[in-house]
Amino acid sequence: MTNIDYNALRADFDTPLYIYDFDMIKARYKAIKDQFIAHKSLICYALKANSNLSILKLLASQGAGFDCVSIGEVRRALLAGAKPYKIIFSGVGKRQSEIKQAINFGILMLNAESPAELESIEQIAKELNKIVNISIRINPNIDAKTHPYISTGLNENKFGVSIDQARIMYLNAQKSAHLNPIGVHFHIGSQLCDIKPIIEAANIVSDFTSELIAAGIEIKFFDVGGGLGVRYDNEIEPDLYEYAQGILGALKGKDLTILCELGRYIVANAGELLTSVLYEKQSQNGKRFVIVDGAMNDLIRPSLYSAHHGVSLASIQKPNENFSTTDIVGPICESGDFLAKNISLPQLQNGDLLLIKSAGAYGFSMASNYNTRPRCAQIAIEDGKVRQIGKKESFEDLIQNEKEFL
Ligand SMILES: Cc1ncc(COP(=O)(O)O)c(C=O)c1O
Repeated sequence: MTNIDYNALRADFDTPLYIYDFDMIKARYKAIKDQFIAHKSLICYALKANSNLSILKLLASQGAGFDCVSIGEVRRALLAGAKPYKIIFSGVGKRQSEIKQAINFGILMLNAESPAELESIEQIAKELNKIVNISIRINPNIDAKTHPYISTGLNENKFGVSIDQARIMYLNAQKSAHLNPIGVHFHIGSQLCDIKPIIEAANIVSDFTSELIAAGIEIKFFDVGGGLGVRYDNEIEPDLYEYAQGILGALKGKDLTILCELGRYIVANAGELLTSVLYEKQSQNGKRFVIVDGAMNDLIRPSLYSAHHGVSLASIQKPNENFSTTDIVGPICESGDFLAKNISLPQLQNGDLLLIKSAGAYGFSMASNYNTRPRCAQIAIEDGKVRQIGKKESFEDLIQNEKEFL
């Protein structure tokens, strides 16, 4: 994003502030959709990465589908204009009330993650006298070689079921009067820059799909999950052509609709967190801290995964060459409250502005009110124009569910 008057943005919306580049979001969606242009595909944006309603509306207008993991996400997608038949509902622990609502909304399919959950779906479908489209999440036991917290395709992870379990579940679903098994699904992890594990998983699940088709189960959707990595530091982003060709190759001619559940790839690099410098501080052993008004409640990735986010100067009142190494820390009472470590910055003062980059995914959607801090405002920039897409919470917002019990 260029030619932005960050001081004006602070004056209008306060800091911290999330800023999203809507042109980039559109371009990233299109880049992936175009890879499958000669094939049936549905790119279901994973809301968990960033579920701002205006972002969802933008993607719905581009034709995207949506991957949801709670009924709240399903309702967000619908509110933003998504077509029910482009919504899928995944997740390891769907409540029965959520399953019921999702069925009543008429979404494309529910991804079952355990035999018990499939039984629940069947029972609820029976009560509602409906036939429900389902898919089963297969855990192909593949090491995605990413951070352990975002690796999901190994037997030791809580997600999905083994092929042996899946086989029994599909055969049961085939016999059911209320289940219609139309999809196969896997998702082995997030922030994958090496696509080999995804392609390996696709081949395993495709071979299993051949077996299902031979057994007379009419699979229509091949859901390869999300997980494509992005550049935060010096990572090399996966080549989309190789990714798409790898998946198409794994299908070995099967006439299935490819479904992707990408989140991070679409929004991560389209978002930045603008934050104001409050103070500079030097500890007794000479360690330098720049204390800013953004914190781990606004962007938890550095604290949670030791994730790296680039930092740039958005505005400095007294430009200088006095660079030294510093941590950028927030006001929260945790030593783990940092946004960046050991980076080189010039001398700063109260009111200077920093940009924490690549904060569009798993940023605002993981924000909290820890330390009774309001979640901040969000703005979009599209065609050079700024518009607000989220309000900063007020103190009243934070206490509204408690004050009546005083
Ligand atoms: C089932 C499922 N699909 C899609 C995603 C989105 O992943 P990403 O944002 O890495 O594309 C996730 C992320 O955790 C997931 O668990």
